[in-house]
Amino acid sequence: MLLEAPVYKEIFGAVKIYELQKVIKMDTETEDVPMFTVQNIPRGDIYKTIGEMAIVVPMKNEKLHLVDGVLKAIPHKSPIIVVSNSKRKGPNRFKQEVDLVKHFCNLTHSKVTMVHQKDPGLAEAFKEVGYNDILDERGLVRSGKGEGMIVGILLAKAIGVKYVGFVDADNYIPGAVNEYVKDYAAGFLMSESEYTMVRLHWRHKPKVSKGTLYFKKWGRVSEITNRYLNQLISEKTTFETNIMVTGNAGEHAMTMKLAEILPFSTGYSIEPYEIVYLLERFGAWENAEEAQDVFDQGVEIFQLETLNPHFHEDKGQEHVKEMALLSLTTIYHSKLTSKRLKNNILEDLRMHGIIKENEEPPKPRIMKPIKDIDIKKWMKTLETHQETLLRFDL
Ligand code: GDD
Ligand code: MG
Repeated sequence: MLLEAPVYKEIFGAVKIYELQKVIKMDTETEDVPMFTVQNIPRGDIYKTIGEMAIVVPMKNEKLHLVDGVLKAIPHKSPIIVVSNSKRKGPNRFKQEVDLVKHFCNLTHSKVTMVHQKDPGLAEAFKEVGYNDILDERGLVRSGKGEGMIVGILLAKAIGVKYVGFVDADNYIPGAVNEYVKDYAAGFLMSESEYTMVRLHWRHKPKVSKGTLYFKKWGRVSEITNRYLNQLISEKTTFETNIMVTGNAGEHAMTMKLAEILPFSTGYSIEPYEIVYLLERFGAWENAEEAQDVFDQGVEIFQLETLNPHFHEDKGQEHVKEMALLSLTTIYHSKLTSKRLKNNILEDLRMHGIIKENEEPPKPRIMKPIKDIDIKKWMKTLETHQETLLRFDL
């Protein structure tokens, strides 16, 4: 693969954020590239890395047709982890998903692990290892995309992979999904640190407008989130920046070592909070001795622009509002955020009718890092108590 080389970056303490890098050619035979502005990543290396990366697909009541395309597009060597929070009653969508996955595995011999987020066995496993942050008042795993991702990360850790990537289930273009996984691998191959994250930015996010496809450059929520994340960074450094373009990147991947030390935020706030937390914790040289290895190696954040457009389900205005609120709460409640920035966020949320005049955004619910979870015990408890766990060809 040919990519723009990671030439520009901003450094905050131990965190390096690279400027957006475009994919120049997906698949090449190129051996030597005599330009320092273009990076060549050999195909063989990409495929090797793909084999060390699990792909987590969180899903909730998505069209089976889309789920089918997504599963079929994930490169064969990557173990797939499906965490579903779909309905199990009237109609039983989860059962339909299970049938689809079984059929897919029979046809392709793919490595797939699948579980339902509300499986009591999962809740039992979390209780057993003392990780109650993820449980709801009924003692089951809470609903939410972030919560589903954490389950996925643990299943990936149990398999023993080095990297974990995320791909939404509602993607209309299987070819795009195939590219995302390769882009993740390319990002990791450019990194020097074991604490690396690769976040994708779409060249276009098409919308149907007046009966034609309009190739919109950015999603609305991302624009707002990125603007505030950049303001947060600018205030800290006193140099204005636009470096962050992937504040909401649902399509992203990280090394397992990084996934282990990150606290995660609930639902759709998970992605912006990853950035907020990294800046809070590693953005300045404080208490470095408590995380010496991370400070020594640094945290690298790559942002890659895909060749494929991103075409997914339109979930409506209310959903967009919820996502904007959840994203901005992570910035609003950060200890890095100035009073001025907080006021701007409040005004914005009120102006768009997302919160009422006298309301404040709720605090994001943060779940502690998973690093202390005894993964063998967690998996064993899940296996013993599970009702929905499926494993193929592992
Ligand atoms: N397991 C699980 N549990 N999955 C869920 C849940 C849940 O409670 N809620 C949603 N999902 C799944 C969806 O089925 C989909 O596959 C994926 O999570 C993303 O959810 P969408 O509802 O499609 O969100 P979106 O498309 O508006 O936003 C996506 O893109 C944003 C911008 O890149 C998400 O990935 C956001 O997290 C992201 O910020
Ligand atoms: Mg979507």
